[in-house]
Amino acid sequence: MSERTLVLIKPDAVRRGLVGEILGRLERKGLALDAVELRTMDAALADAHYAEHVDKPFYPPLKDFMTSGPLVAAVVSGDDAIAVVRLLTGPTDGRKAPGGTIRGDFGLSNRENLIHASDSAASAEREIALWFPKI
Ligand code: TYD
Ligand code: MG
Repeated sequence: MSERTLVLIKPDAVRRGLVGEILGRLERKGLALDAVELRTMDAALADAHYAEHVDKPFYPPLKDFMTSGPLVAAVVSGDDAIAVVRLLTGPTDGRKAPGGTIRGDFGLSNRENLIHASDSAASAEREIALWFPKI
């Protein structure tokens, strides 16, 4: 079933010049880019996007990181896109993510882990509405 999911190519990946690499992986997999924009997360958007995490101890440094520079926000679509993009992304901690995944191939951090991808249909709907209210 065709689905849409929200992807954020995080500020670390933008700084490191990995935007094309990451979007290319999604495209080569067969997923479509329905929207792509260079954006900067402000504090209010960070709190809304990460509503489930705002009270956790890792949230203040995460917020500093996510608001530290431009990121690329995208709506990605295709068959089972939510689960497929999570598979391409890999587990949260780059040190534990397997090779072949974006986090496994490009990072060593549990925070600066290159990409966000919606984790469920409900999250995708909420996050797309937050980032791209017009589509
Ligand atoms: P989470 O939703 O658990 O991970 P994922 O991005 O794989 O869905 O956490 C959201 C982000 O918070 C995660 O991408 C990186 C950051 N984070 C930390 O900085 N420290 C942590 O201990 C965890 C669990 C996450
Ligand atoms: Mg998550």
